[in-house]
Amino acid sequence: MCGIIGYIGKKYPQEILLEGLKKLEYRGYDSAGIALKEKNHIQIIKSVGKISNLEDKISKEKLIESHIGIAHTRWATHGIPNETNAHPHKVGKITLVHNGIIENAKELKKELEEKGVHFYSETDTEVIAALINLYYENNLEEAIEKATKELKGSYALAILCEDDEKLYAIRKESPLILGIGDNEFFVTSDIGAILKYTKDYILLEEKELAILDKDSYVIKKNGKEQKKEILVSTLNDEDSTLHGYEHYMLKEIMEEPVLVDHLIQKYQDNIELLPDLKKYKHIHIIGCGSAYYAGMIGKNLYEEDGLKVEIDVASEYRYRNIIYDEDTLVILISQSGETADTIAAMRKAIENHIDTLAIVNVEGSTIARESTYKILIEAGREVAVATTKAYILQVLILSLLSYKINPDKEYLEDLKKLPQHLKVLLDKEEFYQELAEKIYKEEDVFFIGRRIDYAISLEGSLKLKEVSYIHSDAYQAGELKHGTISLVNKGTIVFGIVSDEVTKEKTISNLEEVISRGAIPIYVGNEESNYENQIIVPKVHPKLQSLLIVPTLQMIAYYVAKKRGCNIDKPKNLAKSVTVE
Ligand code: F6R
Repeated sequence: MCGIIGYIGKKYPQEILLEGLKKLEYRGYDSAGIALKEKNHIQIIKSVGKISNLEDKISKEKLIESHIGIAHTRWATHGIPNETNAHPHKVGKITLVHNGIIENAKELKKELEEKGVHFYSETDTEVIAALINLYYENNLEEAIEKATKELKGSYALAILCEDDEKLYAIRKESPLILGIGDNEFFVTSDIGAILKYTKDYILLEEKELAILDKDSYVIKKNGKEQKKEILVSTLNDEDSTLHGYEHYMLKEIMEEPVLVDHLIQKYQDNIELLPDLKKYKHIHIIGCGSAYYAGMIGKNLYEEDGLKVEIDVASEYRYRNIIYDEDTLVILISQSGETADTIAAMRKAIENHIDTLAIVNVEGSTIARESTYKILIEAGREVAVATTKAYILQVLILSLLSYKINPDKEYLEDLKKLPQHLKVLLDKEEFYQELAEKIYKEEDVFFIGRRIDYAISLEGSLKLKEVSYIHSDAYQAGELKHGTISLVNKGTIVFGIVSDEVTKEKTISNLEEVISRGAIPIYVGNEESNYENQIIVPKVHPKLQSLLIVPTLQMIAYYVAKKRGCNIDKPKNLAKSVTVE
């Protein structure tokens, strides 16, 4: 979703800001803008669509000689994507960019209008600028503190004022970090935007205000100076380069064998590093989208291990009336660690004195910091909006936790073989391309499976629909006859996921039922079959099997989307990090 980058230092900021915006593109956006400041003049340039449009516009303007600037990619919430609604917004002496949603914007806007403020945009962001401007007399820090106290909702703000040579930043619920360079400073919603310049950063906590000067910075909360630790990012700028691949999605799928191997090396002989789920009577797994589907794999594994497991999507959990059980562990799965609903679910569990375990990718993210325990999946930066490598590593961690509950020699043997199996499977690019050829003209595709195969179906189906825009749904194979089978026509593609020993035969019967109604089956399993279209993966321990099947479905989704000419890394309407509810 929206991305922020700000710079103050000795260099001219425009290049740094534009490069930063490009690194933030993956989060999803529909317009972008930049503000530069020189003395009491602020120059704002905005455009709709790609960053390249903004770049074009900037190249045609005479830019002021500035050493301070802020920039933003907007993912529309209040008001359609157009230039007026794009950030930065300027009211009086205040110019700012904003991530998040102000829930009481309507009421505040009305009050401000009654005081004579005229608004140009439909955004909640302009309301924040107007409020700060209203309170600003000669002390901007006080005006920001006072204005933000009135805001309900989430915000990360980078603020410029005509009257001084400083850059201000403050956050609540939306991520924002401070980058510490060599006599230069940055603010950004994602460290990836500044890795080229520095790996040193400070995490801004809720409502902390950063005041950045050309050669110094101070962080305050309620007017009091805060001591902050400088952290060093383990990420590389290299993670944001395509390395010859046409798309990040393919590059990230291809990274899976190495990343899986890395986690295996880390944990196979040190399983004590992972928490013991057996200590808890009840496990409750929570996530959104693919992270939730990874959790579904976990649920299946832990139930087989004899634990009582419940699972919820975070946006439901946060509003459910949960009857809390003292001996519960809430497992939160999130690549970004910043998904608004998952954060709310975590805080709800913590408020109810429940232990939480975060399985996250982004170190220093809100979920990684606030959860009782955390396990990092160490995927590096995932740029493609549709998750691939992070999903696989989430499932690997869930599977290792299951191994810890019930250690078994066969599992360890198969675990060691996993990276090689994955490599061989992913090398068959032509095979996936040929299969994609049979699918890409379809309008509806179905995935069916039972138990863990249903969890796999959900992820396979989501991946296909989000990147190729083909309507696709996953069903528990046994449910088909209760309604959905009426959608099966001559030529409808149905993927049958058949790896689960307990239900294999049942799902095959369901596949036969759709074949009799004209469907074209794609059999996905770990044993050869007689089906014309089949994806066969090596048979491994049941706790590891999904780790070989899902990558093949990711490849299919990728090649189908490619054949359809879709914007694979940035599918329409989607954002990488869903930081609003
Ligand atoms: C789908 C996808 C999303 C995310 C979901 C949760 O490919 O990427 O469904 O899995 O938005 O995001 P995180 O894991 O960052 O909490």
